[in-house]
Amino acid sequence: MAIVDINAKIPNNVDLVGDRRLQRALEQWQPKFVRWWEELGPSVFARSPVYLRTAVDVGAQGWAHFDHVEMPDYRWGIFLSDPEADRRIAFGDQQGAPVWQEVPGEYRSDLRRLLVVQGDTEPASVEQQRHLGRTAPSQYDLRNLFQVNVEEGRHLWAMVYLLHRYFGRDGRDEADAMLDRHSGDPDNPRILGAFNEETPDWLSFFMFTYFTDRDGKYQLASLRESAFDPLSRTCDFMLKEEAHHMFVGATGVGRVLARTVQLMRDHDTDDVHPHGGINLAVLQKYLNFHYSLSLDLFGAETSTNAANYFAAGLKGRFQEERRNDDHQLSSATRTVPEVVGNAIAEREVSQLAALNETLRDDYREDCRKGLDRWNRTLRDHSVGFELVLPHGGFNRHVGTFKGHRVSPDGRLVDEATWRAAEATWLPTEQDRAHVQALMIGVTEAGRMASWVAPPAQGIHSQPLEFDYVRY
Ligand SMILES: [Fe+2]
Ligand SMILES: [Fe+2]
Repeated sequence: MAIVDINAKIPNNVDLVGDRRLQRALEQWQPKFVRWWEELGPSVFARSPVYLRTAVDVGAQGWAHFDHVEMPDYRWGIFLSDPEADRRIAFGDQQGAPVWQEVPGEYRSDLRRLLVVQGDTEPASVEQQRHLGRTAPSQYDLRNLFQVNVEEGRHLWAMVYLLHRYFGRDGRDEADAMLDRHSGDPDNPRILGAFNEETPDWLSFFMFTYFTDRDGKYQLASLRESAFDPLSRTCDFMLKEEAHHMFVGATGVGRVLARTVQLMRDHDTDDVHPHGGINLAVLQKYLNFHYSLSLDLFGAETSTNAANYFAAGLKGRFQEERRNDDHQLSSATRTVPEVVGNAIAEREVSQLAALNETLRDDYREDCRKGLDRWNRTLRDHSVGFELVLPHGGFNRHVGTFKGHRVSPDGRLVDEATWRAAEATWLPTEQDRAHVQALMIGVTEAGRMASWVAPPAQGIHSQPLEFDYVRY
């Protein structure tokens, strides 16, 4: 089992002291990271003690420590899950061979690219969320926002470690570039579209953590299958932290919904906005927006890169080893959607070519579970409204649907029809302004803003009235 050095300048379980050059290089990157955090991390309460979870180990019997910490003093560390003895490559052309502890020369640039694309998303979301602290609906929520932020910072560390350790000079340059690109920067933006959008309000934040962090889960889960063992172990541990981010999203949206339903009953109306709530139709529009942007993150329906990554053993499928097939996919086929003339059709392609679509399908299934739960709340309160996931072609900017107008129920429509209905499908300026108007920061312990119900329980068995943030 790897030894945890928790008191080192950079806490780690990768024996940094045993590699002085690497340690020095990372210690030179550290102040750049701190400077970035101070410039583009949380813009308010940046020095307030926050009740945070810090990763201190990777073992099954507790890997985290909870205490009040000022965020700049957070112990961002490098932690890889323990190695699996005699681990073998589970898929692709080299299935059955031992996994790699070093990067094979022929896959160097592909692996570097995968690390950079994943790594770039981590600081991007911190930048997107930096102003949300001002309008947190409660101390509990503010604490969760900051928890997500510091952990995304640690995920950047995770990727930067791999770049420094295994990619030499190129890797160090990529690590620096990760702090030079910025979300929404017109000259030097983040790599992926959804990470250049603003997260202007807390409904967006909850939708983002539900839908976009969940894309992260699927990307990390398929990288966990990688034949490059250090990457696999890195992602395995990141997934532990990631689960909380999606919890924040799932319970966040659920609490907004619960509050809306309560206001609908109390005031016997569908329009709860005058009563300080968010209307169900607006929730659905936000959901449409965030879900469709997140679908884009999986890439085009067919992809030669994805096929090559799989064949090479760099990136597998979600839960690769649980699948009952040959894990080679050389002859298997499946269908993918395709726009032909005026219709949405399907075409049959090799499964190898369609791996992005397969991962997107798995993601969709997972997204649906949240909607099932939220819809149960609506049914339990006899509300005649159901949240739905829009069709996969709706509001897409990547792949076969790019440049086409598809309604949420999956009809190919012309531009005029789209224009006429857009305001009922996607958040309008007015919707966003309404939501924004509700965003008034609540700092008193235990109190909640008007538009969101309290959570079922506090963090780490603490009561709801706990001082999660000491202002
Ligand atoms: Fe992350
Ligand atoms: Fe995350």
